[in-house]
Amino acid sequence: MTRHPVWDPFIRLFHWSLVGLFAANAVFTDTESTLHEWVGYAAVSLIALRLVWGLIGPRHARFADFMPTPSAALRQVQDIATGRHRVHLGHTPLGALMILNLLVTILLIGATGYMMTTNTFWGVEWVEEMHEVLVGWAELSIVVHIAAVIWESIRTGVNLPRAMVSGVKSVPDDATVVK
Ligand code: HEM
Ligand code: HEM
Repeated sequence: MTRHPVWDPFIRLFHWSLVGLFAANAVFTDTESTLHEWVGYAAVSLIALRLVWGLIGPRHARFADFMPTPSAALRQVQDIATGRHRVHLGHTPLGALMILNLLVTILLIGATGYMMTTNTFWGVEWVEEMHEVLVGWAELSIVVHIAAVIWESIRTGVNLPRAMVSGVKSVPDDATVVK
C-alpha cells in the first residue's frame, strides 16, 4: 500500500458538513420553520466557499484537476468493464460528474427555497414543486453516489470513505496510479 494525502481539511469538513446539513433539511427540520431556511442557506454558503476553493485550493481540490471529459469518462467505463486497476488520486471522471450534479442541484434547491420566501413567488405552485422535485433528484443522486463510492472502493481496493475522513488514499501496490 502507498499512502497519498489527497483531501485537505477544508474538503473533508465541507463534505461531512454538507452531508449533515442536507440530511437535516431533507429529513429532520420542519420545512415550514425558519430553522429549515437557515440550514438551507448554510448548505448554499458552504457550496459557495467550495466554489472559491475549487479555484484557489490545493491541487486535488481544484475543478481544473477533475473537470470530466467524455473520453476520460469512457476510459473509466472501460476500466470497470475490463477489470483494469487504475486508481485516480483525485476524483474520477464519473465521480466528478456526480459531484457537479450534486453541487448544482443543491444550489438550485437553495434558489427555489429562497424564491418561496419572496413576495413575487410566495405561494406560486411551480416553485414549490420545483423545490420538491430537486430534493427528490438530489436524494436519488445521493443513493447512486454512495453506491458508486462503495462499488469503486471494492473494485479498486482503495477505501474511499476512509480517505474522505483521513484525507489519505491508501493505494494497493498492483494498481496503476492516475495523477
Ligand atoms: C447528503 C449526502 C452527500 C452529499 C450531498 C455528498 C456530496 C459530495 C460532494 C459534493 C463531493 C465532492 C467533494 C469535493 O471535492 O468537494 C463528494 C465526494 C465524496 N463523497 Fe459524498 N456526499 C454525500 C454522502 C456521502 C456518504 C454517506 C459517503 C460515504 C459512504 C460519501 C463519500 C464520498 C467520497 C468517498 C467522496 C470522494 C470520492 C472520490 O474519491 O473521488 N458521500 N460527496
Ligand atoms: C439543503 C437544502 C434544502 C433541502 C434539502 C430542502 C428540503 C425541503 C423539503 C423536503 C421540503 C418539503 C417539500 C414538500 O414535501 O412539500 C421543503 C419545503 C420548503 N423549503 Fe426547503 N430545502 C432546502 C433549502 C431551503 C431553503 C434555502 C429555503 C428558503 C430559504 C427553503 C424553503 C422551503 C419552503 C418555504 C418550503 C415549503 C414549506 C411548506 O410550505 O411546507 N428550503 N424543503
